[in-house]
Amino acid sequence: MIPSSVISLLVAALSISPAGASPTARFDRLKRDKTPKYFIEPGGSLALGHYDKRFFKAEIPYGEHRDVLRQLVRSYLTTLHEHGVETWLAHGTLLGWWWNGQIMPWDYDLDVQVSNNTMQWLGDNMNRTEHTHEFNGNSKTYLLDINPHHVDIDRGDGMNIIDARWIDTTNGMFIDITGVREREADRPGVWSCKNKHRYGSQDLWPMRVTEFEGVKARIPYNFEQILRDEYGDKSLVVEEFQNHRWNHDISEWVKMSDEEIKQRKEEEEARKKEEEAKKKEEEAKKKEEEAKKNEKTD
Ligand SMILES: *[C@@H]1O[C@H](CO)[C@@H](O)[C@H](O)[C@H]1NC(C)=O
Ligand SMILES: *[C@@H]1O[C@H](CO)[C@@H](O)[C@H](O)[C@H]1NC(C)=O
Repeated sequence: MIPSSVISLLVAALSISPAGASPTARFDRLKRDKTPKYFIEPGGSLALGHYDKRFFKAEIPYGEHRDVLRQLVRSYLTTLHEHGVETWLAHGTLLGWWWNGQIMPWDYDLDVQVSNNTMQWLGDNMNRTEHTHEFNGNSKTYLLDINPHHVDIDRGDGMNIIDARWIDTTNGMFIDITGVREREADRPGVWSCKNKHRYGSQDLWPMRVTEFEGVKARIPYNFEQILRDEYGDKSLVVEEFQNHRWNHDISEWVKMSDEEIKQRKEEEEARKKEEEAKKKEEEAKKKEEEAKKNEKTD
């Protein structure tokens, strides 16, 4: 017997093929039309999107990933600093800095930005260079890899939005490096990446010099506004996130116990149920009132 999933796949393949073209011919054309992706992840799950396929061996468990990321960002920031290259923290990495100058423990990747001119310089001078750093007596090699699509003005078919990566060659984990530039002819002074995160020149520069994970780092001048715009005011206030709780005594995010997580889930479900019940009640009331109104006009 042919499993029904196979049948539906076959049906799908046949039904999308235009008259005359075989399904495989059409598939080949689709493949050809897409720009090849420069950075490849193992894929298959959200978690596997955090590794470079060339160096991936196995998923890094929660208990170990923090050290891997810490070493990634320390090696990246010190290497670029040594070369006099301006780079700054962005997105979730910047949010982690805001809370306590550290990577948020639920993050599995890191984000930094550079200007398009810097990206060009990195591509011309440091593409595919390897850098060895020592941590606790172990040396590790990192690869700086610049996507030739960094020069593209828009996101195209979305295959090459990440302009460069700093990759841990022992396990494939990485930092995403994106270039920002004035991308829209009618908006001078507005800098953006291919993913349309926009920043005013004055929000980025002059950069502030600070520390992240114990090493010198840069952040945009108007970091707070940038974070509020991207993540909302709540992101700077709410002290429970992604199964972690902000601990005031040690100024760190700590993972909640399984018991706590379960409790939170139950609370959330109860809250949702209550809301639904309220909604239903209100709807019923409305209907009742309308019915009364109709009665009167009859
Ligand atoms: C970086 O080097 C790789 C390998 O040689 C090459 O495919 C890629 O186009 C280079 N990137 C840039 C920006 O030149
Ligand atoms: C960088 O972007 C600016 C616009 O912000 C542009 O004038 C310049 O040519 C770009 N530099 C490179 C190297 O592409």
